[in-house]
Amino acid sequence: MTSTADGTGLDAVGTDIVGTDDVSLERELDQLLAVERFDPPPDFVSRWYRPADAAAAAADPPAFWAEQARTLLDWDTPFTTVLDDSNPPFYRWFTDGRLNVSANCLDRHVAAGRGDKVAIHWVGEEGERRRVTYSDLLADTQRLANGLKELGVGKGDVVGIFLPMIPEVAVAMLACARIGAVHNVVFGGFAPSAVRERMEVSDAKVLITVDGARRKGRTAPVKEAVDAELGDLKALEHIVVVRSTGIAAPIREGRDVWYHELLERADPVAPPEPLDAEHPLFILYSSGSTAKPKGILHTTGGYLTGATYTHRLVFDLDADSDVYWCSADVGWITGHSYIVYGPLSNGATSVMFEGAPDYPDRDIWWKIIEECKVTIFYTAPTAIRTCIKWGPQYPGRHDLSSLRLLGTVGEPINPKAWLWYHKVIGGGRCPIVDTWWQTETGAILISPLPGVTSTKPGSATTPLPGIFPALLSEDGQPVTEGTGVLVITKPWPSMLRTLYRDDERYVQTYFSRFGRDVYVVGDAARLDADGYFWIIGRIDDVINVSGHRLSTAEVESAIVSHELVAEAAVVAQSDEQTGQAIVAFVTLTGNQSGDDATIAELREHVATRIGKLARPKRVIWADDLPKTRSGKIMRRLLRDIAEGRELGDVTTLRDPDVVAALAGKVAQADADE
Ligand code: WTA
Repeated sequence: MTSTADGTGLDAVGTDIVGTDDVSLERELDQLLAVERFDPPPDFVSRWYRPADAAAAAADPPAFWAEQARTLLDWDTPFTTVLDDSNPPFYRWFTDGRLNVSANCLDRHVAAGRGDKVAIHWVGEEGERRRVTYSDLLADTQRLANGLKELGVGKGDVVGIFLPMIPEVAVAMLACARIGAVHNVVFGGFAPSAVRERMEVSDAKVLITVDGARRKGRTAPVKEAVDAELGDLKALEHIVVVRSTGIAAPIREGRDVWYHELLERADPVAPPEPLDAEHPLFILYSSGSTAKPKGILHTTGGYLTGATYTHRLVFDLDADSDVYWCSADVGWITGHSYIVYGPLSNGATSVMFEGAPDYPDRDIWWKIIEECKVTIFYTAPTAIRTCIKWGPQYPGRHDLSSLRLLGTVGEPINPKAWLWYHKVIGGGRCPIVDTWWQTETGAILISPLPGVTSTKPGSATTPLPGIFPALLSEDGQPVTEGTGVLVITKPWPSMLRTLYRDDERYVQTYFSRFGRDVYVVGDAARLDADGYFWIIGRIDDVINVSGHRLSTAEVESAIVSHELVAEAAVVAQSDEQTGQAIVAFVTLTGNQSGDDATIAELREHVATRIGKLARPKRVIWADDLPKTRSGKIMRRLLRDIAEGRELGDVTTLRDPDVVAALAGKVAQADADE
């Protein structure tokens, strides 16, 4: 590595906007903050964008989407009906068409002679490599599809998947898709009790999991932990266990089966089942405003159209030459759409990384980019902020010149992090796509198009063709410039279809505020004079920690399930690192007062109930919580207290002194820190 006089190591990154060696990175970024917009690099020409598309999409959205669905996907039975909007908000797309998602992700590429192409470059924690080709994936997917059938899984049955970042997770999803089973993937970082809840509410028949998972050099026994929580679930007939780490895993005769044994004995041929376009593809549980997670349901044809179209367009994918890497976990929607379905449907080559960004060292991501010659990199703002904290010397150790496009997702990106990403990682030459979307939307809806859209750091910019967002004021009036509630005014193919077994909650959550044909996103946003969207954040009781969605109610109910706790209220506080952080105001039973050990115990308790990501960053002991006279906790005031803001009107409170006492405590704690 060479290093510059200022110690930033920037010349090793090949950046083209460092003027001289003695300009410090910090100063440079501050100067760049004054740049309002970045025009597309003149030599970056979008492969897929045609100006005529935007016009066509605006003129006749269903016809535009029909065209995408026909050209991007292979159909067993072509559709004649494009959009059935006779019963909003229960929209149906391409209803009389039939197709199979796994055939679109695998068979068609193999049939076209691309079977030897690498689908997944897998990188293990200790540097192990696996090159999984399209033929490999197809072979395993067929065997697992037959294996699942042997275990009694049929069309419409739910299969749980609780796996780390290993290629088998893609096989598991695709095998379900092949036979019309509905997968329900649970993020590997969730606690087994959260897995249990998600399996129980979806009546999962089979769970595919792993012996153990590696994390930073240690191995955690997953199967054992799963057994302890899920052993007695009635509907769960079988557990399939992938041998990944070799750690001891209990196998219960008759119920459990090793993945490799199931594959070995299975018939190698499993023709893909032609499925109705509206056949359910997967359920993915996500946090909402109550403690009960929402089972977001996506279906076959519309979802795959959205994932395929957006992945190719937004990432300007050249399936022949790009090496694409999305650093998300497959347990989130980003992993579903942009690690598995979008890239595979487009026949791309992807990197899949098992490990953490700081193991064995903080340069592991950049090492992988250099070694695998990654061209497109997609990550979360929170990860970028962590890298900023670690310093530019880590990316500086590596040649990142293969990169040509960068993306972000999951939370608003602060301009400074955007600029650091642009400069230190992208060498000043890569367009950045700040992609806004949600589990519910299935695919990216608002994002710059590389080579087309001028970017403004911090703005997700403008909607993709065929997507119609708008801002409304509290009373439903359109906002053309300024802030408002973000809504989508026309259906799109990859939208959720309902909440699993809860149509009423679906209507109530998304389509009750402004009518049955207006999708309410749950975010507030600002629209500027150029028509650019700036996402502000959630307006419901959802907290976004490091791009992970958590509900305040879910965390509260985990805290109050601890025997020492009488009452708890959870709010978000802004955090430089994680975007938002969880602050818990907790009242202990019998007026006990808590100490540091109690805080540690509560945090651990939340980790075992939900997962580590839900642990409160801060616990504040409250003798009482601010409540209205009718007993409702005033979260707005707690948020003000947590942020150290001027407190608003407290006259409606039952006991106004409570707030002053808490505010005093928090101010004291802040001063101590
Ligand atoms: C937030 C993740 C700002 C937003 C794909 C949304 C963003 C929620 C962005 C969905 C972005 C996602 N800029 N905020 N580019 N992308 N969000 O369901 O609040 O895990 O409603 O889907 O993340 O989170 P989810």
